Amino acid sequence: MHESKRVFKDILIIFLIFTFLIYPILGLILLAGGIFIFNFGVYFILLILSEIIGILIISSLKKKRRKVYTLNPIPYYTQRISFKRKHYRPHRHKRKHYRSPKYSKPKKQYSPPPPPKSPSPSVPPISNWDPNVWVGNEIHGYKVESVIGTGGNGYVLKVSLGGTYYAMKVLSITPPQSGTVTMIATSGFDQLFNESENLKRLSQNPNFVRIYGIYVDSNIIRQALKGDSMAYFKNPPAIVMEFMEGGSVDKLLNDRNIVYSNYWPLIVKKIIKQVAFALDYLHSQGYVHLDIKPQNIFLLRNPGYSGYEVYNNIDKIVKLGDLGSAVRIGGRIEQATTAYCPPDQIEAVIFGRGADPKMDIFALGITAYVLLTLRRDNPAIVYLDQAFDSFVNGNINDAISFVNQAKQVLATWRPMLPSNTPPDLQQIILRSINPYPQYRPTAREIAYGLS
Ligand SMILES: Nc1ncnc2c1ncn2[C@@H]1O[C@H](COP(=O)(O)OP(=O)(O)OP(=O)(O)O)[C@@H](O)[C@H]1O
Ligand SMILES: [Mg+2]
Repeated sequence: MHESKRVFKDILIIFLIFTFLIYPILGLILLAGGIFIFNFGVYFILLILSEIIGILIISSLKKKRRKVYTLNPIPYYTQRISFKRKHYRPHRHKRKHYRSPKYSKPKKQYSPPPPPKSPSPSVPPISNWDPNVWVGNEIHGYKVESVIGTGGNGYVLKVSLGGTYYAMKVLSITPPQSGTVTMIATSGFDQLFNESENLKRLSQNPNFVRIYGIYVDSNIIRQALKGDSMAYFKNPPAIVMEFMEGGSVDKLLNDRNIVYSNYWPLIVKKIIKQVAFALDYLHSQGYVHLDIKPQNIFLLRNPGYSGYEVYNNIDKIVKLGDLGSAVRIGGRIEQATTAYCPPDQIEAVIFGRGADPKMDIFALGITAYVLLTLRRDNPAIVYLDQAFDSFVNGNINDAISFVNQAKQVLATWRPMLPSNTPPDLQQIILRSINPYPQYRPTAREIAYGLS
């Protein structure tokens, strides 16, 4: 409509120009030349023809102009759209970002199998337990996302609550054999139950993996021990901890870029210093950790990909984990990791003596040795394993004899440390691995000695 009006207006303008301007001039010229002076018919035909030609020429020119005119707005229009996009797209992205946690949550809920409405009859027997049966189900209100690993006294699961991940250690009722850890008794649940509030409080120190909840129900444990695997499936004894995204220091040993860099001995020094600070606090609060080893030292985040990066990032992210195994100084020892524990820890078990902070110091010295040399060949292991086996089989004299042999080999052991080991760290290691606890330094001496 708009277009046809414009065409009509153009024709009218051309008609008026021709009628009142061009034709009178043309008529005057013809009159002056004396041609067709009386032939008004020819004059009239010429007038009409020239008018038609004029209209055609002008309208074709107009068409060309219109093309140019219509071409112009197109890029302009595109520009405006892209301008809008420039302004609105980031908003859309933002909204997507804000929405993503909300929207990804239900998606995640679809991936694992839906929780069974009625107890599944396919739960394995306690003696042959598979932690994967928990994946997709809830334990103590937390949704189980995946199984992180199996340790000496249970399974560690990645769980979530309200969009945050946690690590949940579910304690095994019949402990799996892990090689490094051996349960001396399975009655540690009572101790954990009694200590749960204290352990939660201690873990609030920033040098520890935080413990949020400890769930131990003696009725459920009794039922599970009787073989009720459904009771265990639904309400197992568990410890909810801070999720350590960077994994354990033990895992760091697999990274050749880091452990073969010149920074590695300095990184080890920082790790040992941080753990010594954690132990100083723990010991001052009257507790012994009893399971110091690279697998129980954690990193809050990924520390980096090169020795230099790790060296710069590590101090703020090292945390001592598995506080659930801690006992009071002088308390009953329930477990030991023979590859790291001192002979006096096995001896204490044999003679019924209590836990001593110096046991942690020996394990810390061995941990430093393992980290620096990447060797797990402390010469006492073989004797301590035999001492433990003898004790379990009731051969107390043999057990004592093996413990003494372990002490003897340690008394003469001079571990080969890398030449670039910092001298203060070297000294600390040599003093810590002494078979006689009275010669070992305190955690405080180590922490400040390495600062
Ligand atoms: N808080 C945590 N955050 C992330 N991963 C964890 C956490 N606690 C444990 N893990 C991981 O779970 C796995 C099993 O841990 P677990 O403590 O059961 O075994 P372990 O340390 O080898 O033996 P132990 O029973 O002597 O402690 C390991 O790979 C460990 O790194
Ligand atoms: Mg552990």
